[in-house]
Amino acid sequence: MCEMEMLDHIVLHSIQVCRVATFITERLNSQQPQLNRELIRAAALLHDITKTRSFKTQENHALTGGQFLAEQGYPEIGELVRQHVRLDEYPSPVDLGEAEIINYADKRVLHDRVVSLEERLNYILEKYGKLPEHQERIRWLWQKTIAMEDKIFSTLTIVPEELNRVLNSGDRTTNFAEYQKACKLI
Ligand SMILES: [Fe+2]
Repeated sequence: MCEMEMLDHIVLHSIQVCRVATFITERLNSQQPQLNRELIRAAALLHDITKTRSFKTQENHALTGGQFLAEQGYPEIGELVRQHVRLDEYPSPVDLGEAEIINYADKRVLHDRVVSLEERLNYILEKYGKLPEHQERIRWLWQKTIAMEDKIFSTLTIVPEELNRVLNSGDRTTNFAEYQKACKLI
């Protein structure tokens, strides 16, 4: 992240996505251990690894982020990063794996704040939904994301809004300070 000169607000966003993804993973794993927590944490932190660069190059940051990580020797993380905007498949019923958790967590974080899917959708529609065909694609994706949310929370004892309350307070600024300190050492 330091070497790629990731912009501060993207670092903060990534830290928050990581907190959401970790929280959900730990809750799900406490019922049935099935998700690779460390893989999820790495992919969440790195999901926007080429985004800063993409502002200049206009590259597809999900795709190039996945490629970049594979080239660095982390193909498994790359696979998750590649699918963080849109999953390769949306089977029905929903099949929850690491890719789904990363994809969902990213859709619950607006900048560095945990929000509802609805709030994030409105932001995305405003920013990327200028053309009707784009709008349609975004809404399709959102229906699939809502199905994912239903599946995630169907077995948990908390509701989706609980994440806002729990994760909007807490230590992400500490994490960010630690990150800055670590960058200076490189
Ligand atoms: Fe992204």
